Amino acid sequence: MDKNWWKDAVVYQIYVRSFKDSNGDGIGDLQGIIDTLDYLKWLGIDAIYLNPINQSPNHDNGYDISNFREIMDEYGTFDTFERLLSEIHKRDMKLIMDLVINHTSNEHPWFIESRKSEDNAYSDYYLWEKTTDGQPPNNWGSFFGGSAWTYDEKREAYYLHIFAKEQPDLNWENETLREDIYDMIKFWISHKVDGFRIDAINHLQKDTSYPDAEVKPGETYGDFLKYVQNLPKVHEYIKELRVKAFNQSEKDIVLIGETGGIGHHNAYLYTATDRDELDMTFHFDYHSVGIDTYTWQKTDIDLINTIKAKMSGWQNTPKINGWCPLFYSNHDTTRTVSRLGDDSKYRYASATMLALLQLTQRGTPFIYYGDEIGMSNPKDFLLEDYRDISVKNKYQEKVVEGNWSEAKFIQRLHLISRDNSRTPMQWSDDIYAGFSQEEPWIRVNSNYKTINVAKQKKDPHSILSFYQKLIALRKAKDTLNYGSFKDVDYANEKLYCYYRSDNENTFLICTNYSKEKVPLAREIQSVDKELILSNYETVNELMQPYEGRIYQVKS
Ligand code: GLC
Ligand code: CA
Repeated sequence: MDKNWWKDAVVYQIYVRSFKDSNGDGIGDLQGIIDTLDYLKWLGIDAIYLNPINQSPNHDNGYDISNFREIMDEYGTFDTFERLLSEIHKRDMKLIMDLVINHTSNEHPWFIESRKSEDNAYSDYYLWEKTTDGQPPNNWGSFFGGSAWTYDEKREAYYLHIFAKEQPDLNWENETLREDIYDMIKFWISHKVDGFRIDAINHLQKDTSYPDAEVKPGETYGDFLKYVQNLPKVHEYIKELRVKAFNQSEKDIVLIGETGGIGHHNAYLYTATDRDELDMTFHFDYHSVGIDTYTWQKTDIDLINTIKAKMSGWQNTPKINGWCPLFYSNHDTTRTVSRLGDDSKYRYASATMLALLQLTQRGTPFIYYGDEIGMSNPKDFLLEDYRDISVKNKYQEKVVEGNWSEAKFIQRLHLISRDNSRTPMQWSDDIYAGFSQEEPWIRVNSNYKTINVAKQKKDPHSILSFYQKLIALRKAKDTLNYGSFKDVDYANEKLYCYYRSDNENTFLICTNYSKEKVPLAREIQSVDKELILSNYETVNELMQPYEGRIYQVKS
């Protein structure tokens, strides 16, 4: 199998707004990232993926871009960006940027022009529809709540926005628009970035016959997914983008998609090595694991069907079907340890056990900022603490116009709000967790006094120290990434164990995905092996709650 830097890399995702504020305005920025690069290097990180840093009015924290070629004022200048890139490269690390090309901000000059008339150069850059009955063209509801259509007084027509109304969707059928996008990508390539994560890429094509969609029970709007997601032309667009924006000498630049509505098992549609589309794609396998969307309570996790089937499923996927990121969380989910582990009694054990699974499988690990110290969902956020635009829009739809109680709505936010994973990075027990000297744009999780980098860096038995050791081990042993994968005792509903092997080594990974003490299977006990790493001090045949171990098998 071909090796690439991005297959070997351990990547770290930074939600810039929440990572480190260098100038005391309560908002994370690029200088803040520069100041923390030595920490990331120490941790063993090879590449950094940044959420969008382009100019934006920030209705959706940078996912509404008003100028693709400038840096957001709050984050710094172009000069700061160039310094950041050179400091990253100096440390032999890489930079992956977010590319938001499904939509722009409604303040982007293209949209401002497009609104003006039906016959200017940009009229056709967005998806406009006229109606005669004063109603939107159809019943689609947007991802962020409310109708997917907004009426524009100036143009006297509706425009489509699958996200917020401040994020009008681009019309990818328009060739001139596509050429403009490719030019913009070339601009960033010329500045020597190392890769792109392409936002919402599987939405580039919409069914522009705009049929009404099915309204599910309890909903106000039609569910538009099958008309706006993973449609066939998306693949043509990606192939064209690959050819036109990148050339041979740039084949080292990694292209990662964000593809809602697919799991690891059909990620090959976008990543198969013979399809010339993406290098890898973020699937949505773990987003709603452990969440009951009826009661808005956390539920037990079915280890075999939701964890093993997905993780081992990907590990056993033929390599021709592409390469996969190994990740649990990002800025659109909740915190890993809260959703997939236990963020109370077993926070240390479950966070380290999950880290162990993530770093001993084939794929590129993406560590979401703060997961390396076991940051968790805030448990005491009130309605006014939330910042996400989708919270505001959904509140309008569900509570103001719908029949949900506010209590039910808040219960839902505690379980699924994206703000759960966007709280400021917990650097120390100083004011505002060492993130800023001033009040941050979003509230700090009140557990920062006990959960922070400074404390964990000093402690050899912390989650952070465990991550650092694991990353070093993964990098020292190719087997853990490229080796073959074999489940053992698959039917076990509490333990998840597997072998990784190549010509040089065989490792046996054993984890306990439960709160009980569980004996290892006989066939594992009898293997001649040596313990390399564990998240418990004493180790015997009985696996402790959320225990995780790596053994080297003796030959
Ligand atoms: C993607 C991003 C998300 C954003 C949306 C609209 O899903 O990850 O944060 O809100 O696209 O750009
Ligand atoms: Ca700042």
